[in-house]
Amino acid sequence: MILSIESSCDDSAIAITDIKTKKLLFHKKISQELEHSVYGGVVPELAARLHAEALPKILEECRAYFKDLKAVAVTSTPGLAVTLVEGVTMAKAISVALGIPMIGVNHLIGHIYSLFIEKETQFPLTVLLVSGGHTQVMEVKSLEQIETVAKSMDDSFGESFDKCAKMMGLGYPGGPLIQELAKGGDRKRYNFTIPLSQSPLIAFSYSGLKNAVRLAVEKATEEDYKDIAASFEHIASAHLIQKLKKYFKDVHPKTFAIVGGASANLYLRAQIEELLKPHNAKLLLSELKYCSDNAAMIGRVAIEMYEKKMFSSLDELEISPKSKL
Ligand code: KG4
Ligand code: ZN
Repeated sequence: MILSIESSCDDSAIAITDIKTKKLLFHKKISQELEHSVYGGVVPELAARLHAEALPKILEECRAYFKDLKAVAVTSTPGLAVTLVEGVTMAKAISVALGIPMIGVNHLIGHIYSLFIEKETQFPLTVLLVSGGHTQVMEVKSLEQIETVAKSMDDSFGESFDKCAKMMGLGYPGGPLIQELAKGGDRKRYNFTIPLSQSPLIAFSYSGLKNAVRLAVEKATEEDYKDIAASFEHIASAHLIQKLKKYFKDVHPKTFAIVGGASANLYLRAQIEELLKPHNAKLLLSELKYCSDNAAMIGRVAIEMYEKKMFSSLDELEISPKSKL
């Protein structure tokens, strides 16, 4: 079995996965959403302190599995430096105490493998990752062959939901709150511009849209918020669709996947389904409970890395806030 740890942002999670059967034997996650919601976003130092409390508590519940562990895996990149270090330090201690190898997992690859928890992998795959930290399109041929073909030049898709929610005093995380508010709103009322629509670049940008929302919120009353939320959600998704359409002119994926916390967005899912129809491409989605950060996806990547003996020694396993992908 492999014990996997996730602490890259505001979720403390540990999973135990069976290497042979890929079965998830244990998974527990303690989210810090409530603690950060008063600030309208994640406060890194507070997050680190909460991981230091939560991770040992969850680990205690895994004691019965210790004798069967063959490796310990941990998210080591990308993420907040002060929170990544909490998980990595715990992984190092477990590795020394139990005499088992360590596996450093890239969180973005974790999101890709959230599609395959307790399942076999399916490659090749074109993946849209939409989370709080990232918005990027990747061509995935295998664990070691992942190429990023488009990414955000500034804010991410999920982050723009968080920031717009904060402007309207809705709380954190903003994604589900905006989605809920948008349900009763008029998607056409605010005529926000689709970012980069005149640019031939296949890239994403959310900072301009965020500022347009800020101007609208400043002039609005609370009654207008649902229309702002609906119009924003519409344009934020339309931007992804427009760029993907452009990308699909040259590349025709047979299988397309959306992963990451914001892949839970129902409006985006519906738009992507429409986009894929004429291409006859299959859409893969993670189970809703594995869209946001979790340790099960880290454990699923770790199985592949264990089989390829992709281990890191104590001094090799460094945290790296920025991903190479
Ligand atoms: O993958 P994740 O849990 O953490 C990162 O790796 O960043 O993603 C969290 C992000 C947050 O920005 C949150 O607002 C967004 O995903 N999110 C959503 C929805 N649910 C979560 N964004 C839009 N619509 C949603 N339904
Ligand atoms: Zn994530």
